Amino acid sequence: MRRNIGHYSEINSLSSLISNELSNIHDICFNLRPIVLDTLGLTSALKNFVFNLQKNTNISIHLDAVDLNTKEIDIEISICIFRVIQEAVMNSIKHAKPKNIYIHLTTNNNQANGYIKDDGIGFEINQIQKDQHFGIVMMRERCSILNGKFNITSRINEGTIVSFEVPI
Ligand SMILES: Nc1ncnc2c1ncn2[C@@H]1O[C@H](COP(=O)(O)OP(=O)(O)OP(=O)(O)O)[C@@H](O)[C@H]1O
Ligand SMILES: [Mg+2]
Repeated sequence: MRRNIGHYSEINSLSSLISNELSNIHDICFNLRPIVLDTLGLTSALKNFVFNLQKNTNISIHLDAVDLNTKEIDIEISICIFRVIQEAVMNSIKHAKPKNIYIHLTTNNNQANGYIKDDGIGFEINQIQKDQHFGIVMMRERCSILNGKFNITSRINEGTIVSFEVPI
């Protein structure tokens, strides 16, 4: 009996150790960013990302963010925008079978607005099981931490639009 209680508390402390480690890993992944974001800013990081992707796919990826002065955007906000765009584009490539992906980003004095649109197969958002997929949850979480907005609209056989708005 005593031995069982010993095992029980050992399992308990192991399990809290593991969950602390998982949360550390989550924090590390969440905060990782490409070096180009720090050195050249968001627009160049996006151009770089699209350029590299375009080499490996036949999908046309259109980036409309080229003339923004995004170097002045706070790094935490740049990371959020970059990661949201990256995940949405990767989702289009992985799941949508599109011909085109359009990335749009604009800024004004107090906010950044963007969308990632594809002309792929679309999906039923309500049928996605959140405990098995993390990309959409993560995009939403990133925007919400910055008091921003996040939305997905998708239609079967028409495509998907992921949009966001974050204060800068
Ligand atoms: N643009 C899209 N077109 C079609 N289906 C999509 C699109 N984006 C997401 N989906 C669907 O939504 C699901 C959930 O996406 P989510 O990014 O959360 O997870 P995932 O891409 O499957 O895995 P990961 O956790 O690696 O991101 C996908 O598995 C896919 O079925
Ligand atoms: Mg994903």
